Amino acid sequence: MSSAGLIPGEGRDGGAPPARLRLRRPDDWHVHLREGALLQAVVGATARVFARAIVMPNLSPPITTVAAAAAYREQILAALPRGSGFKPLMTAYLTEASDPDELARGFSEGVFTACKLYPAHATTNSAAGVSDLAQITAVLERLEAIGMPLLIHGEVTDPEVDIFDRELVFIERHLEPLLGRFPALKVVLEHITTTEAVDFVVGAGPQLAATITPHHLQINRNAMFHRGLRPDFYCLPVAKRELHRLALRQAATSGNPKFFLGTDSAPHPRGAKESACGCAGIYNAPVAIESYAQVFEQEGVLGRLEAFASEFGPRFYGLPLNEGTIELQRNAQVVPMLLEFEGESGSPGQREPLALVPFHAGDTLPWKLNTNK
Ligand code: DOR
Ligand code: ZN
Repeated sequence: MSSAGLIPGEGRDGGAPPARLRLRRPDDWHVHLREGALLQAVVGATARVFARAIVMPNLSPPITTVAAAAAYREQILAALPRGSGFKPLMTAYLTEASDPDELARGFSEGVFTACKLYPAHATTNSAAGVSDLAQITAVLERLEAIGMPLLIHGEVTDPEVDIFDRELVFIERHLEPLLGRFPALKVVLEHITTTEAVDFVVGAGPQLAATITPHHLQINRNAMFHRGLRPDFYCLPVAKRELHRLALRQAATSGNPKFFLGTDSAPHPRGAKESACGCAGIYNAPVAIESYAQVFEQEGVLGRLEAFASEFGPRFYGLPLNEGTIELQRNAQVVPMLLEFEGESGSPGQREPLALVPFHAGDTLPWKLNTNK
């Protein structure tokens, strides 16, 4: 169902391009909101567009208990702009010591919406993640029994495996057997990057879905090396060849409900990205919905954006669709090169000027969120 879009919800776009697009208010099914000053700097960009977001638990230390998730949720709510109705959906970070009873309690109390599986050392703050899936068998049995979704960072960490193959190898070595062992387990393969992941998700049963980020729809791996080394385009899983980007665009815009919006917006202060050992992550929250809109329009199916952004995710999670709407206007915007904020310096209580480089910095995007609607 299309709540109010100017374009019918199905089929290819036709006729004159619309000047406005009204969408049921979307959700972000994968975001990193961080803590402290960085949380304060970024949460508004997510909350102005999305009604809810699945908040990743890879803090330092990670969110592994109900109490820690409840406290983190309070921190997020306190950082929201006044009057915001944004609802953070919390996740539990799985370790080999995770207690199935604690996870089930958090889920039944409405604190945890899902569990996140990071293979140990796969990405930012994942050292406490899981090295051996056999160690979390009891956890997976419980998640399957209670219908609690498992969200997976699907990359092997084996240094022998080429970094561009790590998602594919994870699917073959771990995901396929896991789905076989737990056929009723609800799984989201997060931020997919390959044609093989698309095919695997399409071919699996309805219990497997995937999120797709704006950056993996917009860039291929050349972006990281365009006229020099470009840390702003480094994220994990890394962007792949053009043929994979095209497969992701096809999947996201196909109308298949197994693929839905998850930005993986992952801010790191500029100095942490532009360093000898730069962090992975692309900060796309300020332009995420506009970036997705550009992709859907380029593919000629702008009318399918609403289902991808606002319907398929809640249906998979078994949550109600949002009631309100947002409006995008065809109003070209140049994305700022830098977003400055007051960050925490090394010493307690001290602040220093820091900056984030947003995704699409310096680009002109054709759509703009109308914040008055
Ligand atoms: O690029 C990424 N950044 N990928 C992840 O999986 C984690 C994220 C982060 O937390 O910085
Ligand atoms: Zn992420």
